[in-house]
Amino acid sequence: MPDRSIDEQLTKYLTDVHSIEVQALAQLERAPGIAGDDRLAAAFRDHLEETRDQERLVREQLEARGADTSTLKDIAGRVGGLAMVAFAKLNPDTPGKLTAHAFSYEHMELAAYELLARAARRAGDQAVVDLAGRIGEQERAMGERLAERFDVAVEASLREKDTDDIESELVSYLTDAHAIEAQALQLLGTGPKIAGFDELADVFQEHLGETEEQQRLVEERLRAHGAGPSRFQRAGMRMGALNLGAFFTAQPDTPAKLAGFAYAFEHLEIAGYELLRRVAERANDPETVAVAERIVAEERRAAERIAGTWDAAMDAALAGLVAGPAG
Ligand SMILES: [Fe+2]
Ligand SMILES: [Fe+2]
Ligand SMILES: [Fe+2]
Repeated sequence: MPDRSIDEQLTKYLTDVHSIEVQALAQLERAPGIAGDDRLAAAFRDHLEETRDQERLVREQLEARGADTSTLKDIAGRVGGLAMVAFAKLNPDTPGKLTAHAFSYEHMELAAYELLARAARRAGDQAVVDLAGRIGEQERAMGERLAERFDVAVEASLREKDTDDIESELVSYLTDAHAIEAQALQLLGTGPKIAGFDELADVFQEHLGETEEQQRLVEERLRAHGAGPSRFQRAGMRMGALNLGAFFTAQPDTPAKLAGFAYAFEHLEIAGYELLRRVAERANDPETVAVAERIVAEERRAAERIAGTWDAAMDAALAGLVAGPAG
C-alpha cells in the first residue's frame, strides 16, 4: 500500500539523518583540534553541543516509530559506506580544508533535512516535519557561521608559513580546485543518467558546460604560476579514486540522495573558491581573484538550482517505491 511505503520511506530517511549526525559527531569532536584558531574552534564546539541534541531527537523519533534502535549501532558502523558521507573520508588536515569540508557537510545535512521534511509531510507526520525544520535551521546557521570564518580559516592556514610561501599556497589551492573540477566533471557526466528525474538531469546538463570552462580557467591560472600538467593530473587521479558514480548506482533511493550529495558538492566548490580568492588576494594575483569570483557565482547558482529540485526529488523517490522494490 502506498501509505505504508511512504511510512517506511520516512523511517529510512530518519535512519539516514541519524547516520549523518553520528558521523557529524565524530567530525566535530576532531575539528577544534585542527581549527588552528579560537573563533573557528568555538564554532565547532558550539555545534557539537547542538549536534548531540540533534542525534538524540532523531533517535527518539526512530524509537517512537518502533524502529529497532539496537540496530542503530550497526548503522553507525555502516556510515562509511553511505554515498552521502563519502567525502567525510577526505580527512582535512588544515584549517582551510577543514572549514571547506565542514561548510559542505552542513549543506549536506541541510539537504537531508529538507528531504526529510518533505517525506514527513507526505506521510502526515507533523512531529518529524517540525523537527526537520528546526534542525535544518541549525545546520543552515552553522553553514553561515563557517562562511563568516573563511577569512579566519585562511589566516590560520597561512599563520605557520612565512610570506614567501604564499605562492606555493596559491598553487596548492589552484591544484585542489582543479582536482575538484575533475571530480565535478565525473559527477555531472554520470549524473544525468542516474538522476532519475528530469529537473536534476537538466541542472547537471547545464552545469556540465560551465564546469568544463571552469576547469579550463583554473588550468590557465595554474600555467600562469608555472605549474605543469603532471601536477594537476596527479591531483585529478587522487580525487578520481572516490569514484562517485559507483557509489550512487548502488543506492536504492538514488534521486534524493544524488540531489543532496550534489548540493553538498557545490558547497565544497563554493568554499574552495572563497578560500582561493582570499589566498589570491594575499598573493596579489588579481587574475586569479577574478576567476574565483566568476566561478563561485556559477557554483552558487548551480547550488540554488539543485535546491529547487527537492520536491521533484521526493516525487521521483516515491515514484520509485511504487514502480519497484524500495531496497
Ligand atoms: Fe546535524
Ligand atoms: Fe551540522
Ligand atoms: Fe560546480
